[in-house]
Amino acid sequence: MELSDAIRARRSVRKFKKDIPVPQEHVQKMLEAAMMAPSALNTRPWQFYVVTDERTKQALLRVHPYCRLETAPLAIVVCGRPDKQPGHGYWPQDCGAAIENILLQALDLGYGSCWCGCYPTQPRADGVQKVLGTSAVPVAIVAIGVPDETPAAKGFFDPSAVTYL
Ligand SMILES: Cc1cc2nc3c(=O)[nH]c(=O)nc-3n(C[C@H](O)[C@H](O)[C@H](O)COP(=O)(O)O)c2cc1C
Repeated sequence: MELSDAIRARRSVRKFKKDIPVPQEHVQKMLEAAMMAPSALNTRPWQFYVVTDERTKQALLRVHPYCRLETAPLAIVVCGRPDKQPGHGYWPQDCGAAIENILLQALDLGYGSCWCGCYPTQPRADGVQKVLGTSAVPVAIVAIGVPDETPAAKGFFDPSAVTYL
């Protein structure tokens, strides 16, 4: 798919075909895409958790009820590593760039996805951190799978959001 088309075709998908797993080679491609994202001073302040285990998905749903893992066969939890950026705190932006790359790579491979935010909603971030047993800061749970719905586009060009100087 052309990049311009992919950007415009992406939607948040929240219902997936539960019994179609995502093969490891596709998971690998999404992780590679994530790690191709730019980061401040090239500090790459991220850590990725790949979740396919049903018990872990249920535990994530308990701490983040809107993380859309009811039917998703796969979640990639993108976490930030503030410890890699002493003196500045661009890691949430860096993780955001990595997350968007995952969404677009997923689309190109034929999957739907949903970015489900954690940090800075502290109870969610703390809960997800506990489930994963990590000291990294969960920024988003990305739910991924073959779509079982075709949501309408919500993105649009809004001229009032632009100022020309
Ligand atoms: C930072 C962030 C947090 C989000 N958190 C959630 C979430 O917890 N659950 C959810 O279903 N969607 C979540 N979304 C998806 C948005 O609701 C969605 O992107 C928005 O409604 C626009 O729809 P679209 O992605 O189909 O264009 C989140 C998106 C972003 C960027």
